[in-house]
Amino acid sequence: MALRSYKGHIPKICINTYVDESAVLVGNIDIGHDSSIWPLVAARGDVNCIKIGERTNVQDGAILHVTRPTEGNENGYPLIIGDDVTVGHQAMLHGCQLGNRILVGMSAIIMDNVIVEDDVIIGGGSLVPPGKRLESGFLYVGSPVKQARPLTEEERAFLTVSAQNYVKLKNEYLEEY
Ligand SMILES: CC(C)(COP(=O)(O)OP(=O)(O)OC[C@H]1O[C@@H](n2cnc3c(N)ncnc32)[C@H](O)[C@@H]1OP(=O)(O)O)[C@@H](O)C(=O)NCCC(=O)NCCS
Repeated sequence: MALRSYKGHIPKICINTYVDESAVLVGNIDIGHDSSIWPLVAARGDVNCIKIGERTNVQDGAILHVTRPTEGNENGYPLIIGDDVTVGHQAMLHGCQLGNRILVGMSAIIMDNVIVEDDVIIGGGSLVPPGKRLESGFLYVGSPVKQARPLTEEERAFLTVSAQNYVKLKNEYLEEY
């Protein structure tokens, strides 16, 4: 497992967090219970911090980074991800804030200072431009994203099921390795 220290910060993970040995986590990163980080994820908490909640999965090849504080933007843009979030393969999350029960589709790009409210699906390949706020309960698709329609009850339920499926899968991986 590649947990690298940077300027005195070492990534903090829980005993039941799964971090694939090919993933690279650097610096000020905090990951909650039952979350999972899959092969080839790169997460750099160097110029700001990354916080990941509980039962959240970050799938293969995703890239997570942050923006440093500057004059006029004293907090910079940390990356905050809530609980029960599914981050699809090869997604790019940069200095944004995600709530709970969100699906970030494969290869989606979410830029600085974006806020994604709870219970949102972002379609695969979508681009969310800086500073945008995605409203709770909707599907967003496209580049740049547009609100497509409200989520169905099945889709809302699936957001939690997807997170639960990944908790089960990472438990199997923890037994295997
Ligand atoms: C977003 C998604 C859930 C939508 O599924 P859907 O039920 O087929 O959506 P809809 O049929 O209601 O589509 C609404 C509109 O958005 C378009 N659309 C759907 N997915 C899109 C996408 N990823 N990018 C751009 N447009 C998309 C549809 O073509 C449709 O357009 P139209 O109204 O002009 O016909 C699905 O396409 C998707 O991207 N899933 C991501 C899965 C994933 O990456 N999981 C993580 C890894 S496990």
